[in-house]
Amino acid sequence: MTQNILSLDTVALDEEKNALKIIDQTKLPGKVEILSLSKLEDIYEAIYLLKVRGAPAIGVAAAIGIYLAALEIDEASYDGFYARFKKAKDYLASSRPTAVNLFWALDRMEKVVLDNKGAAPSKLKALLRDEAVKIREEDIKICRSIGEYGLSLIKDGDGILTHCNAGQLATTRYGTALAPIHLGREKGMNFKVFCDETRPLLQGARLSAFEMVCAGVDTTLICDNMASMVMKNGWVKACFVGCDRVAANGDAANKIGTSGVAILAKHYGIPFYVCAPTSTIDMNIKTGKDIVIEERKPEEITEMWYKERMAPAGVKVFNPAFDVTGNELITAMITEYGIARAPYTESFKAIFAKKE
Ligand code: MRU
Repeated sequence: MTQNILSLDTVALDEEKNALKIIDQTKLPGKVEILSLSKLEDIYEAIYLLKVRGAPAIGVAAAIGIYLAALEIDEASYDGFYARFKKAKDYLASSRPTAVNLFWALDRMEKVVLDNKGAAPSKLKALLRDEAVKIREEDIKICRSIGEYGLSLIKDGDGILTHCNAGQLATTRYGTALAPIHLGREKGMNFKVFCDETRPLLQGARLSAFEMVCAGVDTTLICDNMASMVMKNGWVKACFVGCDRVAANGDAANKIGTSGVAILAKHYGIPFYVCAPTSTIDMNIKTGKDIVIEERKPEEITEMWYKERMAPAGVKVFNPAFDVTGNELITAMITEYGIARAPYTESFKAIFAKKE
């Protein structure tokens, strides 16, 4: 292992350099490289190429990114400032389509500008800085709270299966789906974590397994198609996954393959938990059918991880980055305000009432 990734910031504002500081996740686990990005185009590219990824981390990166873009706006009038801010916001918003945290964070930043209509750009810049820092700090508290609620559902020594990476590398700290494991470690508990490798971008193998090993957790890596056997063997007491966008009825979009894990869990009678910060619950979307699913390049499947191409030239490739797990397959949704259960249209109302 090169370095303990858990002592580093996944995503942060570097105020000395006026830069977004991230760990380049495309290089993990082989190389721990910290990037310092100031230009809007570089921040867009970092999100688009998954150098920073995971719904909450994307939200924090976007908030810091739009603040840094605002710093570059050289306009004396409010209207001139807002026009350029809006252009930069729309550009960043087009970097990835599925994780709602991207739009949620950018909308929060825009609200700061709109709520201070007529203010001098220098004041707006200071307020935007405070909001970006607040979004990041809130993320840490939210993840810790999700971790506490998640931990209440499992016992010391349990086998836990996870898909993709919804850990510290996907957030500012702790993660969502892996937060109960990190908090459990803090309390001296030990879990046996099974990480699906998560084809095609291997977030499970490269990121979750790395993060769990760094935390000293008993970690076993499996190919995605081995989950059924591991569950059948009785090694999994619960599945914990993250999400990128949850509809008002509880349908949850997460990394491709998640719905298959949920179907298996139901078959074997294993609880399937989705860890969902309220920033990832999109009450404007009624069901999962309306969630836009990102499609990525065929090369991620045919050649990216191989020394030579592993599929015939000219073959058609379908490469959706996410799928939607129907709410009927989800045992409970773990938010920072508590654990929501079906019917989600009702339980989410109670969760959001608590938030207000
Ligand atoms: O394509 P990615 O790596 O950004 O996908 C990430 C996931 O699917 C995560 O499970 C999700 O964003 C939740 S992260 C707390």
